[in-house]
Amino acid sequence: MNGAGPRRRAALITGASGDIGAATATRLAERGTDVWLTYGSRSDTAQQVAQRCRDLGSRVEVSRLDLRQPDEILALAARIGADWGRLHVVVNNASACPYQQWHDVTVADWDAVLETNARGTFLMTSHTVPLLRAAEGDRSIVNVSSIAGQVGGIVTSVHYAASKAAILALTRSFARLLADEGIRVNAVTPGPVASAMTGAMDPDARAALARSVPLGQRFGSADEVAHTICHLASSESSFTTGATYDVNGGLRTG
Ligand SMILES: NC(=O)c1ccc[n+]([C@@H]2O[C@H](COP(=O)([O-])OP(=O)(O)OC[C@H]3O[C@@H](n4cnc5c(N)ncnc54)[C@H](OP(=O)(O)O)[C@@H]3O)[C@@H](O)[C@H]2O)c1
Repeated sequence: MNGAGPRRRAALITGASGDIGAATATRLAERGTDVWLTYGSRSDTAQQVAQRCRDLGSRVEVSRLDLRQPDEILALAARIGADWGRLHVVVNNASACPYQQWHDVTVADWDAVLETNARGTFLMTSHTVPLLRAAEGDRSIVNVSSIAGQVGGIVTSVHYAASKAAILALTRSFARLLADEGIRVNAVTPGPVASAMTGAMDPDARAALARSVPLGQRFGSADEVAHTICHLASSESSFTTGATYDVNGGLRTG
């Protein structure tokens, strides 16, 4: 085992080629955390994020990962175990979000989204729990769900909303299951955030959604979500588990 630095914290961030994942990786690196980043297809972007984190003094690894492939999740966890031996933080951030009308969603479309987002979160959690058990100090999982998992899809699709609700159920289930080991499990539920994902929205729907956000009639930034993820992932949140933190500009209150 090469090992992350003995006194340093180590985090896995999936979907670090995406905007929220990249911002989270950078903020964790700023806090002195070593980061293991995954990407789906955008290798160049992931390498740029990795360099930014290295420039901040972090040890960084980058892996391609398709969350639809259970063997890849298992292999990644095994590699982190062999190389670093432990993780303090797992951020289940990567997700697929195709914009489709509900009547156009085929069985294959449904499976692709649920396998990536819900099953992927379950399998990544299952395979990384031994790495969290191997670490000392504050340890936690942060799952990136969505306001769509709470209220249903506003602009996003039904299968995406269903997958994000499943992530909230997984969060609460694992929070109960792992609490007696001191491993915390929480979720963030972003509202509309400027990213590659929302860049794919219909422009008129995007503008209408922005106007409906009480706090500033705007989309949030990836950094605004990343700060909440980092707070949940740190010992500042040592008495918080099973929680859902909204970062939605007041789009859902109560
Ligand atoms: N943006 C929003 O308004 C918003 C709102 C609520 C929740 N969220 C959630 O926030 C998280 C991050 O989204 P984002 O806005 O930062 O979107 P993004 O920029 O599109 O990033 C999505 C990330 O997921 C990865 N990914 C997609 N399919 C994958 C697969 N099958 N296997 C592994 N990785 C895969 C992508 O990899 P590649 O790009 O390399 O393929 C990318 O790194 C997601 O969970 C999303 O549901 C976003």
